[in-house]
Amino acid sequence: MTTVAVPLPEHLVSAVPAVADSAILGTYKRAPMEFVRGEGMELIDSAGKRYLDLASGIAVNALGYGDDGIETAIRDALATGLIHTSNLYRTAPGEELAALLVELSFASKIFFCNSGAEANEGAFKFARRWARSIHPAKTDIVALRGGFHGRLFASLAATDRPSYRAPFRPLAGGVSICERDLTELATVLDEESVAAVIVEPVQGEGGVRVLEKEFLRGLRELTEQRDIALIFDEIQCGLGRTGSLFAYEHAGVVPDMVTLAKPLAGGLPMGAVLVNARIAESMQPGDHGTTFGGGPLVATVAAHVVRRLADPTLLAAVRSNGEWMQRELQDIAQRSGRVRAVRGVGYIWGMDVVEPAGEIVRRGWDLGLLMLTAGEHTIRLLPPLIMSRDDLARGLSILEKALVT
Ligand SMILES: Cc1ncc(COP(=O)(O)O)c(C=O)c1O
Repeated sequence: MTTVAVPLPEHLVSAVPAVADSAILGTYKRAPMEFVRGEGMELIDSAGKRYLDLASGIAVNALGYGDDGIETAIRDALATGLIHTSNLYRTAPGEELAALLVELSFASKIFFCNSGAEANEGAFKFARRWARSIHPAKTDIVALRGGFHGRLFASLAATDRPSYRAPFRPLAGGVSICERDLTELATVLDEESVAAVIVEPVQGEGGVRVLEKEFLRGLRELTEQRDIALIFDEIQCGLGRTGSLFAYEHAGVVPDMVTLAKPLAGGLPMGAVLVNARIAESMQPGDHGTTFGGGPLVATVAAHVVRRLADPTLLAAVRSNGEWMQRELQDIAQRSGRVRAVRGVGYIWGMDVVEPAGEIVRRGWDLGLLMLTAGEHTIRLLPPLIMSRDDLARGLSILEKALVT
């Protein structure tokens, strides 16, 4: 890991205005600090203060900041002069990345796009295209209680957050939300009208809930019996975060499609839909598209990231450090008396706290720690997947201080 020793140019540092004066549309409640540099596991703000990162840019920076291989991949890609060619032409990086993902997964084909929501919207279209060939009315998408799938119209319709949905009704039709209950699903999953079920094997935004293996297996059985596509949204929990390259491996269930994004291209925007043979065969040229998807620059970087995240040594460390984190978090919960529950696996953890989680996250900033929330009373931890146990221990000790001060 090299140090990224390039400070933001002076004119840009001074150009970052107060939050209230920002020219960026106010769709986010942004933190007051301004980051100017990243080094390894830390971000550094414009005052030179360091923050240990247990958030990874919301599960994106799996390799931390300043990864040598990402830098080399970007340089190699730029040296060709090809940042973008469009999907009308073929380039080697996209082909190589698709072949790599096929080799590492159940998939027979890959669709590249630019974000998580776009990946899910693509998966919904692929499911409909395939299901219509079985029965013309087989078009519905079913999502699960507590799920988060993105902010576009169909992905928002599949997202169980009333406050995100209400201002934008009507949402895309033909998408409904069902309880995480096999008996109820057995009623809802009508063979003639349902094309697909989408599920996060570990629900992230919805409070860090690791769905039971038995539940996911039962859902796979139901969907298989009724010719319904099973989509695993692994945008947050995939690519190593559970300690398996894909969360479906952790659950022991093979879906029909997997959606990826967040860490895929090391912080460059990229999404992907992994598609099995029966769905792939139903798609024709013209059925779907996106201008930028899988361009040479992002694909070169993503191939490096995927190879790193598929490394068995890295995955084993995520598993064993994850087990250690569970014990530590449970100890913290006991000592502090301010934690109601600890949930998670690998490097994705949630803590239900008595206080508003946002307060604790803010106290973390004061103490030099970055964390996330997942709802009003849940703290969410998503450390870079290469974070050492020493750094994790440092982060958890700051977290404990933030809980009780
Ligand atoms: C599980 C899951 N699906 C979809 C999305 C949407 O991804 P994006 O913000 O890249 O559109 C997210 C983002 O947090 C996510 O966590």
